[in-house]
Amino acid sequence: MASDPALRRLTRDLTEPEPIPEAGIARAVELMRSGRLFRYGEMGADQADTALLEQEFAAFTGRKYCVAVNSGGCALFLALKVAVVQPGEPVLVNGFTLAPVPGAILHAAARPVVVEVGRDYVIDAEDLRRKARASGAKVLLLSHMRGHIADMDAVMAVADDCGLAVIEDCAHAICASWRGRAIGTFGLAAAFSAQTYKHLNAGEGGFLVLDDEAMAARAILHSGSYMLHGQHLSAPPAESLEAASGTTPNFSLRMTALAAAILRPQLAELPRRVARWNAIHDRIASGLRRSQHIHVPARGGGQSFSATSIQFSLLDFAPDEMRTILDHARDRGLPIKWFGAERQAGFTSAPRHWTYAGPQGPLDATHRVLAGLCDIRTPVALTDDDCDLIADIVRDGVEFAVATRAAAGRAGSGPEPETARKHGKGGMR
Ligand SMILES: Cc1ncc(COP(=O)(O)O)c(C=O)c1O
Repeated sequence: MASDPALRRLTRDLTEPEPIPEAGIARAVELMRSGRLFRYGEMGADQADTALLEQEFAAFTGRKYCVAVNSGGCALFLALKVAVVQPGEPVLVNGFTLAPVPGAILHAAARPVVVEVGRDYVIDAEDLRRKARASGAKVLLLSHMRGHIADMDAVMAVADDCGLAVIEDCAHAICASWRGRAIGTFGLAAAFSAQTYKHLNAGEGGFLVLDDEAMAARAILHSGSYMLHGQHLSAPPAESLEAASGTTPNFSLRMTALAAAILRPQLAELPRRVARWNAIHDRIASGLRRSQHIHVPARGGGQSFSATSIQFSLLDFAPDEMRTILDHARDRGLPIKWFGAERQAGFTSAPRHWTYAGPQGPLDATHRVLAGLCDIRTPVALTDDDCDLIADIVRDGVEFAVATRAAAGRAGSGPEPETARKHGKGGMR
């Protein structure tokens, strides 16, 4: 299965993050010299990096309060706790998301109820209505997975009808919006991630944003503020914190000052980066759409997104053909993640892998969609030429699989189709 050396390889490492802005590095070094990395000081704040970041992040996302924590997954857990989700309670969640999302539901001792997604990867509002009614769930954990934004008018209408509190998973949807309204402001709370492969990079980190005073007080206390919550700058009045302090357990989820110092200068750079990320997405998408065998969901309508990766569906390929296409791309330096794989690999997973979530009933539509769903990371450093090469490599692999299928169908008689001849019938280059 050696690649044809005449075919260009992608030489760029798609996992390579951007460097941390110099201001963040300088502040991190300063903090390390001081050794004062814990966000709180016993004798008063040692520094205010995390508290300031919370203020800035709340303003950036258009919410009243922000609590910084150590991962996006624990921000989701915290959201469920402040929504007072009870052990064993059903929590609705869309079926295209990653493992930390059902994981957060289990962490809160609740029970995931998986809702179908449609051909464009977003939650199926009618299945949401059905499952809300059938399960009696009162909470929807809506994952804006890979920044694909559902019709939020339809989702919120179902939530209103069924009395659902919505918690938004915005790990991939910072700077996204629906009909001009920021994603992360629709539900009662929203969680963001600052894990390296997201839009903001602290290695690990997360944010919970919300508007309700009593919930914000509990979130701060749950996050692990001890009795030092007076050092928060994005906080409800002291009385709400005092009122909740005796009854709210400390879950120790804090963000360090070091992570905050690295993150603060990144916020200002986000809009510029998002514009480039989206241009990268659109360029690869238009290259992929040149193949009739590839579906790239339209990102128009009411949604504005912020891509750090691109998703597309390979249409009607059997699993072994899918593997052939992915092998072909890998041989040319392009790693593609696949949500239809038998086993979980890397970051990918699908509801059928979440055995810990309990029996779910059929999720045929979701598994049909995931069976062909591919995912490529798109670092902001990609050039237009890289984008075109990525689309070429995928199209070429698809063409090869189609030609191989046609050749097999001919059972060795008659002239070879042009594509099979070009790619060398019967063997991967
Ligand atoms: C859709 C989604 N939600 C939530 C998370 C959780 O983020 P973290 O890795 O910061 O816990 C991730 C992480 O990959 C994710 O992909």
